[in-house]
Amino acid sequence: MNEPDPVRAKCEIHLTVNGKRETVIAYPMTRLLDVLRHDLALTGTKEGCGEGECGSCSVLIGGMLVNSCLIPVLQANGAEIVTIEGLAEDGRLQDLQQAFLDCGGAQCGICTPGMILAARHLLNKKPQPTLEEIREGLSGNLCRCTGYMQIFEAVAEAARRGAAT
Ligand code: FES
Ligand code: FES
Repeated sequence: MNEPDPVRAKCEIHLTVNGKRETVIAYPMTRLLDVLRHDLALTGTKEGCGEGECGSCSVLIGGMLVNSCLIPVLQANGAEIVTIEGLAEDGRLQDLQQAFLDCGGAQCGICTPGMILAARHLLNKKPQPTLEEIREGLSGNLCRCTGYMQIFEAVAEAARRGAAT
């Protein structure tokens, strides 16, 4: 009898997502984006380009900002992942999320989860970033609606409110 093809056969993948342990059965090359959205019903993570260009699918893996459309789920086996659903606590938005609302940083919303996670990543490293550092920190995330200034202002406002966590 032939051995199962390790690339084509489904396998068991263990992830910790937003602090919760999850086990999924998936093909190793399935995109992490699809596992999050379809297997775990975490649809806050959005698909834009599907090619690593727009940042809509951004999540944090082990504290690093990554495009989940480019990550085969096998590569994330054992990882700690934070998606947009992992930021609010007990239904209360983080200061960063509230700043996006207050500053008009979210319009159609497709880019917003990725933008907020990119901003979260930036503020974790640099609690008081300059405008240039905000531009740089969000440079991998595209927005078609806002012209970016409201988004940059939201991140600056979050920093002013002390949203380092
Ligand atoms: S959908 Fe992943 S970078 Fe655009
Ligand atoms: S708010 Fe629509 S793409 Fe950014």
